[in-house]
Amino acid sequence: MSFHPQMPYGTPAWHKSERKLPDEGPAFEFTAEQKAKFDEIVTRYPADRRRSALLPALYLVQEQQGHITGNAIAYVAGLIGCSRADVEDVVSYYVMFFTQPVGKYVLGVCRTLGCALNGAGRVTEELCRHLHIAPNETDATGTFTVMEMECLGACDRGPVIMVNNEHWHECQRPEDVPQLLEGLRERGLAALSGCHLKKE
Ligand code: FES
Repeated sequence: MSFHPQMPYGTPAWHKSERKLPDEGPAFEFTAEQKAKFDEIVTRYPADRRRSALLPALYLVQEQQGHITGNAIAYVAGLIGCSRADVEDVVSYYVMFFTQPVGKYVLGVCRTLGCALNGAGRVTEELCRHLHIAPNETDATGTFTVMEMECLGACDRGPVIMVNNEHWHECQRPEDVPQLLEGLRERGLAALSGCHLKKE
């Protein structure tokens, strides 16, 4: 008998964590250049608050090898001085940390209400249709990964796509998708229209 008469005894489906830990991957350590960046970043925090540098350290890992592996997690935990589980918690919480290889361009389509009402779902569908993939997959050429994300902070200009965690493309309509993909292939990040944050 469970604690509730209508609820079956045992572990119900909703109680199972879907969290998948990343593969261990090859041995990892920062290159001299990345280590120098990390060493500068930790100076911004008090010595007893070293773990405050965790997010930037993980971005440095991603910058170096594209995604975050188990060995990279262990390495960062050692550098920061926290447990591996602490780092895993952060990596699995934030969608901008990738635990599998991704394409050259990661297209994160906002699916929150403002963008959803403006047709973000159809933008995702069109991206996936053109690339012959499903959300969270990478196309056969390794150029594009499509993900769905929550509010990207440009709700007045939806549907919004965040590219590689740093660049914004806004007011995207489903019929604009071929032009966006072609533009990224031919002109790279210069093809993006976003007025928010970094634009090269
Ligand atoms: S709802 Fe899409 S950016 Fe806020």
